[in-house]
Amino acid sequence: MRTLGLMTSGGDAPGMNAAVRSVTRIALGHGIRVLGFKRGYEGILHEEFVEMEARAVSNIVQRGGTILKTARTAAFLTLKGQKKAAHNLQKLGVDALVLIGGDGTFRGGMDLAKVWRGQLIGIPGTIDNDLFGTDFTLGFDTAVNTAVDAIDKVRDTADAHERFFLVEVMGRHSGQLALAVGIAGGAEEILIPERPVNIRAVCERLCAGRHRGKTSSIIVVAEGVEGGAFRVAEQLKKLSRNEYRVCILGHIQRGGSPTAADRCLATRLGAYAVKAVVEGETGKMVGEIGGRRTLTPFRDAVKGKRRIDPLYGQMMRFLNL
Ligand code: F6P
Repeated sequence: MRTLGLMTSGGDAPGMNAAVRSVTRIALGHGIRVLGFKRGYEGILHEEFVEMEARAVSNIVQRGGTILKTARTAAFLTLKGQKKAAHNLQKLGVDALVLIGGDGTFRGGMDLAKVWRGQLIGIPGTIDNDLFGTDFTLGFDTAVNTAVDAIDKVRDTADAHERFFLVEVMGRHSGQLALAVGIAGGAEEILIPERPVNIRAVCERLCAGRHRGKTSSIIVVAEGVEGGAFRVAEQLKKLSRNEYRVCILGHIQRGGSPTAADRCLATRLGAYAVKAVVEGETGKMVGEIGGRRTLTPFRDAVKGKRRIDPLYGQMMRFLNL
């Protein structure tokens, strides 16, 4: 094991830089050369990479985004693109590739594995926390804190005007972020794509809350709920005469300095990834469950929606009283 390739791919997540730093320095410490590919798979296709020395990752543990840049690369989706990537990796003498990203990144890894003999190890990096095989993905904790900070501010103005507010958080296919944000932000309602949305029931609960003396109501809506927060607001307006304001948090949830928890997780996952490479593993994502290191085959990590604990539903019945 002499040369390791490293890349970040898909939607960026706070903590990716801390993981890049960890993988780079730990691999260098093991006498392994590290090549950092730019813009994910695109960098492999165009042979765009940087030699990662220890100083190349100085002063990045606290930075959001990714110094390696990221992209969703259409050309890599074809067999021709995958073969070209395999050819380039072989030419550059890369023995193993560490992929930092989410489900799309690992699906790409599975495709690459069909045409390239090198080792592939994944680090879960996505604010969506939608992968199997780890309690938390990189960036989730930071995104939750960013969104909760925004909700606290929305709550002030909602309370001052005695208004209903819909706050849309990211999560195209997953409500994990919405659930954590809604609970931590004291939301009256949390709407997620994994559960059917009964607008009439939501409206009745909101109106009942008003009658019990609530002066503001926050409805957290995951991006993946059909039509998003604007559509839910329209539907609610049709059922009641109340005014509903909509606030889309959008990409600010992906930016900012990673929390200490994300920095520490990134550093541990980076160490696990190098260990997995040194031990000859391949086709697996490193993670942590209950504080213990895990290795999950890519195909299982990307399997689909994570289970929503029914406790959330039970809690919400009483928390919004
Ligand atoms: O997968 C991470 C994520 O932030 C999703 O929550 C969101 O739906 C998507 O990426 C947005 O992607 P883009 O940056 O391409 O708009």
